[in-house]
Amino acid sequence: MTRINVPASKQYYVIVCNNVLNDAGLHLQQVLTPSCKIAIISDSHVWPLYGDKVQNSLELTGFQVVNYVFPAGETSKNATNYLEILNFLAQNQITRSDAIVALGGGVVGDIAGFSAATYLRGIAYVQIPTTLLAMVDSSIGGKTAIDLPVGKNLVGAFYQPDLVLCDPEVLTTLPHDIFTDGCAEVIKYGMLYDAALFDHLMNNGSAFDREKVIIRCIELKRDTVCADEFDTGLRQKLNLGHTIGHSIETLSNYMISHGQAVSTGMAIVTKAAAARNLCERAVLSDLLTVLDKFKLPTVTEYSDQQLFTCALSDKKRAGSSLNLIVPRAIGYCEIIPTPVDMLKSFIQDGL
Ligand SMILES: NC(=O)c1ccc[n+]([C@@H]2O[C@H](COP(=O)([O-])OP(=O)(O)OC[C@H]3O[C@@H](n4cnc5c(N)ncnc54)[C@H](O)[C@@H]3O)[C@@H](O)[C@H]2O)c1
Repeated sequence: MTRINVPASKQYYVIVCNNVLNDAGLHLQQVLTPSCKIAIISDSHVWPLYGDKVQNSLELTGFQVVNYVFPAGETSKNATNYLEILNFLAQNQITRSDAIVALGGGVVGDIAGFSAATYLRGIAYVQIPTTLLAMVDSSIGGKTAIDLPVGKNLVGAFYQPDLVLCDPEVLTTLPHDIFTDGCAEVIKYGMLYDAALFDHLMNNGSAFDREKVIIRCIELKRDTVCADEFDTGLRQKLNLGHTIGHSIETLSNYMISHGQAVSTGMAIVTKAAAARNLCERAVLSDLLTVLDKFKLPTVTEYSDQQLFTCALSDKKRAGSSLNLIVPRAIGYCEIIPTPVDMLKSFIQDGL
């Protein structure tokens, strides 16, 4: 068992351990009010697989449990479902000394976290991430959100969990394409911060050491979040590949997954960086090799004009400038403020 300390504005631990779901109750006892009521929020794929296991473990340790399960998928991360969750919490008389457990991927984590942040002005919550992306990214750092019809994650709050329980064993039931999506984020951490992690992924492809890699990525996310919890500086580095990636996702009407879009976004930004001598060409060829090993895409059918127009509506744009995260070496990237009128030629260099 590995216990990673996250000393954010609220201090908490991420526990990584195979089969930790069986002991969920024992771990929650350490951080929640004894015998309190817990609302498990989950989705229609995850609940049938792991709901009973978590519920039994919590009940065995004296917690009262109610559960709310919604249809799996991003389309459930909306205001209607959010209000239904709040009503469910109220109807079940969840009080300020009770808690929410988010059991699922990033969609469950984001909407359950936002519910925890806002219900009764904030109650305790625990993340139990069940996708690779949720383990290495969305469950840590306290970003919670729901989507609006005009865009993703437009309503949310920074609200740190009280505990995160990561059980790498649950990845065995994850569909292959969703696992691969999470791998794009794992490769991103290698590009951003850690050449040894990148080499491990290069040498092992998708047979990488899951526990070791998950732990390393959590540490890297923890360090980033603790350096810039409220996303005004360093945390923006986590957007490597995301500016162009978001454009690809949006242009495809979300038919192209987030992981695939980020993969292509990383390839495009690195190709542009190599063309502008901001990094060695070997950085680009190594990235393309590793993405190819994971069967992640590196090119897009969309034009520079389409990507540019779409990137202009990126919610992370600050006036007439946009912060691009640009690889300088494997394991080292820089935030480069880029005037909007120079973004198009940068994208052109990357296509
Ligand atoms: N808060 C943050 O910091 C942050 C960071 C990155 C992404 N996100 C958000 O995360 C979301 C994407 O998360 P995701 O990729 O985990 O998607 P997801 O939650 O939709 O899960 C993907 C699919 O896998 C299923 N699933 C989950 N775990 C499973 C398991 N162990 N076995 C079988 N099926 C399983 C789900 O039911 C779903 O169908 C997006 O909404 C994104 O905005 C948030």
